[in-house]
Amino acid sequence: MKVTKAVIPAAGLGTRVLPVTKCMPKEMLPIVDKPAIQYIVEEAVQSGITDILIITNRGKSLIEDHFDRVPELEAHLSVGGAEKEETLKEIIDISRLANIYFIRQKETRGLGHAVNCARSFVGNEPFAVLYGDDVIIGDDPACGQLIRAYEEFGKGVLGVKQVAPEMIGRYSSLKVEKLRDNLFTCTDMIEKPSPQEVLSYYSILGRCVLPPEIFDILDQTPPGTGGEIQLTDAMCVLARSQGMTAVDFIGTRYDMGNKLGIMQASVEVALKHPEIGECFRTYLKEVAKRL
Ligand code: UTP
Repeated sequence: MKVTKAVIPAAGLGTRVLPVTKCMPKEMLPIVDKPAIQYIVEEAVQSGITDILIITNRGKSLIEDHFDRVPELEAHLSVGGAEKEETLKEIIDISRLANIYFIRQKETRGLGHAVNCARSFVGNEPFAVLYGDDVIIGDDPACGQLIRAYEEFGKGVLGVKQVAPEMIGRYSSLKVEKLRDNLFTCTDMIEKPSPQEVLSYYSILGRCVLPPEIFDILDQTPPGTGGEIQLTDAMCVLARSQGMTAVDFIGTRYDMGNKLGIMQASVEVALKHPEIGECFRTYLKEVAKRL
């Protein structure tokens, strides 16, 4: 079955990047001139997704506004002549990227709980999950790489990367066996492992494609690490019973949920930006001399 639906959980509290996230959703933090969540929606669309559900909560209505039309701004740009024509088109195009829906997660009870809010949107189809604070940039959209693996193997798919041994305790750890190239089977996993529990240094980073059976599993999943309903715990049941496929995706991942990740994304995207790339490079070289 073709994967055409995606869920973007964006209802987290963003406590690692306070104080900016006190009133501002971290998904709206800019990477140069676009909010993080726009990169994620664009990746989904480039991967063949047509319908996207964004899970929000109180205080995240800026996300809805960003994907809406803005008549006053458009009217202003439309009298700006040729110079503003391109910007006008760019602004309108954001509202036409996909069919975008919103639902609120009424309590912040974890990523698994957030994904479970998508049950009626998803119905009985496989669907992609793109974490709202993980931006992945590359020529071949990461979500599309996972969808191709789903189409080939017919099992749930995890986007994975190896993480440094000293960092694995903050992520998940997967039991994997190589299939070919960057593809693996995954038969077990654990969220935030202690050193004795580490299964490998492969960890789920920001993307997965799940079968609809995940919802029944989530209904039965008790709170795990941090008292939250962990998506990893539900996917673990899936991995142990049916096996999953892991894709060591090609692309650079930026964690917009932590301060260093935000800076890395800004610097690297700015260096390649058509408008400011050259000037920024010169500036950065100057700064580097003083380091
Ligand atoms: P994170 O754990 O990275 O987000 O969840 P967080 O809770 O905002 O992080 P802290 O507070 O800085 O530690 C990964 C993704 O799941 C979403 C987040 O918005 C993020 O995109 N999420 C998390 C939800 O939608 N709901 C939740 O209850 C928790």
